[in-house]
Amino acid sequence: MAEAEGDQVQVSTFEPPVDFARDAHVGSFEQYEELHRRSLEEPESFWREITDQFVWTKPWTKLREWNLPFTRWFVDGELNITVNCLDRHVENGLGDKIAFHWEGEPGDTRTVSFRELLEDTCRFANGLKSLGLQSGDRVVIYMPMIPELPVAMLACARLGLVHSVIFGGFSSDAIRDRVQDASARAIITADGGWRRGKVIPLKDNVDGALTDDECPSVEHVVVYERCKNEIEMADGRDIWWNDLIEGQPADCEPESVPAEHPLYILYTSGTTGKPKGVVHAQGGYLIQTALTSKWIFDLKPDDIYWCTADIGWVTGHSYIVYGILANATTGVMYEGAPDYPAPDRFWEIVDKYNVTVFYTAPTAIRAFIKWGDEWPEKHDLSSLRLLGTVGEPINPDVWLWYRRVIGGGSCPIVDTWWQTETGGILITPIPGAITTKPGSATLPFPGVDADVVDESGNPVAPNERGLLVIKRPWPSMIRGIYKDGWGQPGHEGEFGDRDRFFDQYFKRIEGVYLAGDAARRDNDGYFWIIGRVDDVLNVAGHRIGTAEVESCLVQHPAVAEAAVIGFPDEITGEAVAAFVTLRGSFEESSELQAELVNFVGERIGRFVRPKLLRFTPALPKTRSGKIMRRLLREIATSGKVVGDTTTLEDMAAVAALQGIDEEE
Ligand code: PRX
Repeated sequence: MAEAEGDQVQVSTFEPPVDFARDAHVGSFEQYEELHRRSLEEPESFWREITDQFVWTKPWTKLREWNLPFTRWFVDGELNITVNCLDRHVENGLGDKIAFHWEGEPGDTRTVSFRELLEDTCRFANGLKSLGLQSGDRVVIYMPMIPELPVAMLACARLGLVHSVIFGGFSSDAIRDRVQDASARAIITADGGWRRGKVIPLKDNVDGALTDDECPSVEHVVVYERCKNEIEMADGRDIWWNDLIEGQPADCEPESVPAEHPLYILYTSGTTGKPKGVVHAQGGYLIQTALTSKWIFDLKPDDIYWCTADIGWVTGHSYIVYGILANATTGVMYEGAPDYPAPDRFWEIVDKYNVTVFYTAPTAIRAFIKWGDEWPEKHDLSSLRLLGTVGEPINPDVWLWYRRVIGGGSCPIVDTWWQTETGGILITPIPGAITTKPGSATLPFPGVDADVVDESGNPVAPNERGLLVIKRPWPSMIRGIYKDGWGQPGHEGEFGDRDRFFDQYFKRIEGVYLAGDAARRDNDGYFWIIGRVDDVLNVAGHRIGTAEVESCLVQHPAVAEAAVIGFPDEITGEAVAAFVTLRGSFEESSELQAELVNFVGERIGRFVRPKLLRFTPALPKTRSGKIMRRLLREIATSGKVVGDTTTLEDMAAVAALQGIDEEE
């Protein structure tokens, strides 16, 4: 450890440990620099070397196309991602290797080998085929963290079906929106999932989304029995998972698809009330998630890797399922909460399976710190050799605690920056090559041309805040925002909602991908991610748009108008605050306050429930009618407005809000 000068603050730096670097896939800074240079200057040979390590039914001859806003990679190649995640490992003698050590919350466990995962995938794929589903059809998956979730995803991919996984924490309204937008023909779900000793009623939530024939595209609902809770099965529509696979053979010919064939749609929050369906393509996504997994997590044949994310988010898609399986790595998969039945549940699992690489979110680490060092100290964590974080900025003191208490003072930490849209990690330390600084995601991965620029697209000076942009496409880049007809006959050459896609990412600074994050680079060129510059919140690493919560609140009969903002929270990073004006006949009360908080929880999902909900006679607006969110943020954070109010239309709104606070 050394003290480095030069930044605004003095920061510690940590060089890659010598013995770690010696055995690493990328073992020196010079090697990293050379890879990064080659990837940008000689992309054809760089990517050819990488893609030659995979199984293609038809090798590519054309590397990429870039017709703003659309990119295509390995353009004329054909493959199937599941062959690369499963079949080739079994053929290479790794059939008995464990793909997943699975831990259920109530303490049940299972191990699944690569051969079993392949056979389960094939059986289920044959089941899906028997329902008449065909390549290109969309299938929604809404499941708990059980091995059948990756099986369902892989079975879809094997047939060229486009899966859309919905996080199990979302409720009926969120499911309905996504099912409708994707025109899904089938939903794969379970009777329930376990969370802190209780059953999450997944099938009931699906039924709630499908009531009154609101999702006419849905022909089939496949239900896995996990909790044996009571559910209803609709005749002719619903079928048990076990009945579907009954008698199905354990092999299934993989559909060879063009590299650009859509693999999945994952809905994520933007600045409008309607989530965006981010589309990823089979080829580029496979290559990038596999390569980033290998180099960033430095995966070796004996590693036991655990990513604690839920597969319902992009982190789980890329770094529990596709990227990790592509490396034939043994993963751990856990169904429940980190503090159930006790706050050492994670450390018990690390100890039990001798986890070597551990990947989690800063919000979880902040909770561990709060619960106390005695919980990790009860367990032997010496198997760990590498730690990772994702999803939010990590405060340097939290980073240092993670390294000292979980990493035994010696594990390198990779703080990985990326997004649903990027498909894979783009800015990150490579642990054997790049010296880390707590709180910095450090440098771009090979193939990534990142910068921090001003509104005109010019790079800002070192240590100055600007907008994070990526200046050329990368293989796992978002292919577009899903719109009905994508890839279907009659829609050739159309890739979803072009205007929304262009406006969202390529308009503000034309020609480059705008990430939506503010960042700065220090004197060494290291990236420090500051946070979102748009109305997207990051609550416990979960992304949610303020407009989504607002449009939910105004659906309640008592609510006339709602403004939602994020404010700092010690554990979750950001928390949701809602400011609400009521319709004439409704009166403010603590019951109504609780009802509105629950309303959001029930409609969208518990994790979005406002931590603070205030009634106000009026919202502070500019003379042009725009809600002044900055003032609301100041009120939520400190109870006071300190900034400039000259553009405010009516000072009374702010006075009233401050008055409410003073009374409390
Ligand atoms: O603000 C950044 C933050 O998470 C956003 C992307 O969220 P999502 O699409 O849900 O994907 C999260 C998991 C990949 C980004 O725009 N973010 C992600 N990783 C980091 C981060 N902020 C700071 N540091 C990170 N390492």
